[in-house]
Amino acid sequence: MKTIFVNIKELLQIREPGTVKLKGDEMSILPVLENAFLLTEDEMIIDFGEMRYADLSVADTVIDLSGRTVLPTWCDSHTHLVYAGNREQEFVDRINGLSYEEIASKGGGILNSARKLQETSEYDLYEQARLRLTNVMKMGTGAIEIKSGYGLTLEAELKILRVIKRLKEEFPVTVKATFLGAHAVPDAFKNNREGYIDHIIREMLPAIADEKLADYVDIFCEKGYFTVENMEKLLSAASEFGLQGKVHVNQFNIIGAISSAVTHKALSVDHLEVLDDADISALSESETMPVALPLCSFFISIPYTPARKIIEAGLPLALATDFNPGTAPSGNMNLVVATACIKMKMTPEEAINAATINAAYAMGISRTHGSITKGKSASFIITKEIPSYGYLPYDFGNLNIEDVYIAGKKI
Ligand code: NIG
Ligand code: FE
Repeated sequence: MKTIFVNIKELLQIREPGTVKLKGDEMSILPVLENAFLLTEDEMIIDFGEMRYADLSVADTVIDLSGRTVLPTWCDSHTHLVYAGNREQEFVDRINGLSYEEIASKGGGILNSARKLQETSEYDLYEQARLRLTNVMKMGTGAIEIKSGYGLTLEAELKILRVIKRLKEEFPVTVKATFLGAHAVPDAFKNNREGYIDHIIREMLPAIADEKLADYVDIFCEKGYFTVENMEKLLSAASEFGLQGKVHVNQFNIIGAISSAVTHKALSVDHLEVLDDADISALSESETMPVALPLCSFFISIPYTPARKIIEAGLPLALATDFNPGTAPSGNMNLVVATACIKMKMTPEEAINAATINAAYAMGISRTHGSITKGKSASFIITKEIPSYGYLPYDFGNLNIEDVYIAGKKI
């Protein structure tokens, strides 16, 4: 079934096949076609161009988008969308003066979410996740990475990964699953971090690989959580199962994890609220994508990832939500883009590139997603009538989305 969308005011992020990521100055350019058409066949983009070249006779359906802007759906390359319950009490505790680290050291934080999740059935967990995923799709997310990590036992980690698998099967959105068993040291391994890492490597990884439940592996490399040595051991073991790393690093402290992640060929290094020159030079000449999570900085009041420093060093940068109950209880990529412009001084062009093509790269799907390209997924956002695309982050409090298509299906 062919559908032609006509009279598009601005068709954004048009790219030739082969563009897989953008770095440095390249990020400041967002290719736009004015007064355009877009032709899709089932789940794929098959053509686009200026209106004067549109052939309406080839299509089964013609949709008039006069005054509307079209852009590829967001790729959210870092989420923890499968979690149980919420942590609004910790939110209030933080307002009253406790820090994220203080709450965690009192048994709150990740361990709090893990307790809740262990008590929740797979059915209920799916139901909670299904609602969140439906909601983010309506907000324009067409591809999403989802991590485990609130289980911390083999049984509970498998429960999360099976829920992710079911979401993958039942939703049109492209889903990548990441195994984050090394999110925090569970009480059963208190004061025995190394023992827990061994347990992950010997018991969890093989079981997860056996059921083919993960596409990537992650670890929270941070003081009080896991060390650089733990990460090296885990990434080496994971590579034996064909799993590449996407790692949490440099959220609160610089502990030398970035150069090590690069050496171990991590696909992405995420957070980077703190970053030094050695980290920047480790990332130069690497294939690893730096990922910023501005809603986490916003929600727990920590520094924003230094986007200007990263881009001016000639590096690429991707943006994601970090959707999770503790540090970013929102999966709204529109707000991520706006926050990146407002707080990180990224231009709308840079932020849109970071949330589409570069974010697609950070989850290993930039050959099929992240731009309006012939042969890529027919996943795109149709905006309301807006004066220009810069209005999207400017009007940050409103969702200027009229329709979302994911893999050719109207959501
Ligand atoms: O990405 N930093 C580690 N993990 C999550 C938050 C975990 C939590 O507080 O539940 C993050 O921010
Ligand atoms: Fe995270």
